[in-house]
Amino acid sequence: MRVGVFDSGIGGLTVVKAITEVLKGAEIFYIADTKFAPYGEKSKEQILKHSFDIANYLIKTHNIDALVVACNTATSAAIKELREHFPQLIVIGTEPGIKPAIQLSKNGKIGILATPATLKGEKYQLLVDVLSTSSSHITLYEQACPGLVQQIENGKIDDEKTFLLLQNWLKPMKENGVDTVVLGCTHYPLVEDTIKKIMGQNINLIETGYAIANRLKDLSKDCGHFNNGELKVNVYFTSYINLEMISKILNSWNNGGEIVVRNINE
Ligand code: DGL
Repeated sequence: MRVGVFDSGIGGLTVVKAITEVLKGAEIFYIADTKFAPYGEKSKEQILKHSFDIANYLIKTHNIDALVVACNTATSAAIKELREHFPQLIVIGTEPGIKPAIQLSKNGKIGILATPATLKGEKYQLLVDVLSTSSSHITLYEQACPGLVQQIENGKIDDEKTFLLLQNWLKPMKENGVDTVVLGCTHYPLVEDTIKKIMGQNINLIETGYAIANRLKDLSKDCGHFNNGELKVNVYFTSYINLEMISKILNSWNNGGEIVVRNINE
């Protein structure tokens, strides 16, 4: 089983972490497309192009069987087209976990943090329309977070600017008693501690890494994959990446398998 995974940068590693805990006997090819990060402030056409370039690279160079779009923004812009164009692949996307948030919330007040492109996207808007007609007891507090991905990519997780940005964005959620916040961008679990500091330790934070990992395991089993043996992870980046951040993230994993990190052009 050869699995391609991509995101605009290090965020999708939060999904790969979950995959390493669930999937066995496979090889992961992760692309951090830092050359074009952030995706969340680009047009649908641009994101579509980058997503197809990466999918084609992964198919031609690594002969993948499955493609995981570990990015809410790229999923919103490109998942339909990727599925249509590559019917031979298992294609799994990442979407803000609004449904699990509704199940978990006690007061129906749900915050959603995502990139501008995800919140503007057709998929998200459709979901909100359905919710507004079917669930009158749910109030969504959505917030785009421009600039947050760059802070994270630059390793400024515990930086004061990051704290102040989040404090400002979360203010209306805090004032209105939101009890559940959806992390609608795969980078955002990396600032989970700061969000908890602001919203309180009891806040429910919803991320989708494990749901994606389990879906991948189930779909690969259907294709005859025996889920045992070692998992190898290759992390490629398309331009500058903060290697300190990468090693911090990878050191927090305990999958025991081999991990290789390298520039895609080498
Ligand atoms: N990690 C991405 C997401 O899940 C995209 C971040 C970006 O490049 O703006 O939306």
